[in-house]
Amino acid sequence: MNHSYSMPTRVRFGEGVRSLLPSLASVAKASRIAFFAGTSSLKHGGHREEILKSLSGKEIFSFEDIHAEPAPGDLLRFVRDVRGHQCDCVIAVGGGSVLDTGKTVALLAMQPDVPPLPQMLPEHCTPPLPVVAIPTTSGTGSEVTPFAVFWDRKAMKKHSFFHSALYPEEALVDPELTYSMPLAVTASTGMDAFTQACEAYWNRDANPLSDEYALMAIARIIDVLPNAVKNGADKEARREMALGSLMAGLAFSNTRTTACHSISYPLTLRFGVPHGLAVGVMLPSVLLLNASVTPERGRRFFHALGVSSVEEAADRIRKMMKTCGLPVTLKDLGITEKEIDVIVSEGFAPERMGNNPYVFTADSLQKMLLSILR
Ligand SMILES: [Fe+2]
Repeated sequence: MNHSYSMPTRVRFGEGVRSLLPSLASVAKASRIAFFAGTSSLKHGGHREEILKSLSGKEIFSFEDIHAEPAPGDLLRFVRDVRGHQCDCVIAVGGGSVLDTGKTVALLAMQPDVPPLPQMLPEHCTPPLPVVAIPTTSGTGSEVTPFAVFWDRKAMKKHSFFHSALYPEEALVDPELTYSMPLAVTASTGMDAFTQACEAYWNRDANPLSDEYALMAIARIIDVLPNAVKNGADKEARREMALGSLMAGLAFSNTRTTACHSISYPLTLRFGVPHGLAVGVMLPSVLLLNASVTPERGRRFFHALGVSSVEEAADRIRKMMKTCGLPVTLKDLGITEKEIDVIVSEGFAPERMGNNPYVFTADSLQKMLLSILR
């Protein structure tokens, strides 16, 4: 059987790699830079000034009011400004929302007409502005994926964009930028990375290369996330989480995610549950169902977790989540039994559910959700 794996993003990893920013080819030759950043983490770590100083001599246009769950409406405003300023490079420094916004704007701003949403663009559209993605959390893997997510809370709709032109040109993964990440964010984004790695592995589109990245991410994160959450100053844990999250991104960039993500969307949209918490709560039960239909996938997965059965795997994951203070039931998230119906009716995102080895029906999803109610 033939498999393909592609990764057009050039990745640099390690403490201090942010200092390479001005020397990257697309930055060195740029004169008008669109700088996307989140509201807090960069400023708290003191890195914002340092990064901007390293770009002295360039004209910088800052976009720093990006919400945790950005709305598609914000995009058009940013696209208009980036075009108006004739920016020639995008630098996005922040969590997944910031990176998703930066890379989407870089693509839409270059399209000749009124920019449509990225999934409506033809495969061979006008190339995006060069994007340098610099994550400050260890979670979404957006720095190495062709995906971006936006949330339209008024219309109660989530937009998942996919386009091969959404891969950033460069990713600078610098663990030092995660040192100031609050512990609750460390836990929830770390759980997102762990779930993404598991979903890349238990996936109809899994291939030998994505498997390797996924298993390396799983083995790392299960061991180290509790240390990173317990002690944010543990530099080794921060480094391992940055690497684990990057590997999870390298894995699911080529497979997409599956049922946990699909079912999580109404939890975030309707009940405001942070993304990492919403996907994590689903994970142990989804794993049990996936292992029941593709048991041959178990051996290597169990090995990565240091267990010998899927039941032990689910227990090990729940234990890790509890150690990190993460919720393990719907009740922990404030969801009650009467709200399960809406999660079932809105939890089937075809491009996610279609990748899941176990084929969910409304009945089986309802049953699973009832089993994790409390
Ligand atoms: Fe995710």
